[in-house]
Amino acid sequence: MIKKNIADALNLQIQHEQNNAQRYQAVALYFESLNLHGLSAWLNQQAGDERGHADKFIKHMVDRGGVVKLGALAAPQSTFEHPLEAIQNVQAVERATTALIDKLMTLARKEGDYALEVLLHWFIGEQVEEEQWTTELTAEMEQFYKKPGQLYMLDHQWGKRVKG
Ligand SMILES: [Fe+2]
Ligand SMILES: [Fe+2]
Repeated sequence: MIKKNIADALNLQIQHEQNNAQRYQAVALYFESLNLHGLSAWLNQQAGDERGHADKFIKHMVDRGGVVKLGALAAPQSTFEHPLEAIQNVQAVERATTALIDKLMTLARKEGDYALEVLLHWFIGEQVEEEQWTTELTAEMEQFYKKPGQLYMLDHQWGKRVKG
């Protein structure tokens, strides 16, 4: 059985992960509108990963008899000044997500919820990866977003990262 304050926090995290999926899909559509199909595919893959994150928390709740309460999804930002702004937006989302995961870990420890701690180990590792690629892509975008030829190369490179 799961404590009520933990279940409440997990319901908020489920909503956050589902909002992340919305945010990524909006950025993917923005890149699609610029004919940057590689980056669009990469960000669509991330949107799918975010749905997977929500599903992991949902399964944890269901397995432990918690009541899942799905929340409303917010309209994500869907227009950007330029590709760099879109990627900075994604980087900010991941930093905010890391802070939320860390807060959940603090709560799990305070409440002695070892099962949640085990689940959160996976998320803590995942956030290291998420911050790594968003930081890498932000740095590349800073260099290349004003240079169409190089932006096209960057798009191609990130498209190749997408799992078949
Ligand atoms: Fe996530
Ligand atoms: Fe993420």
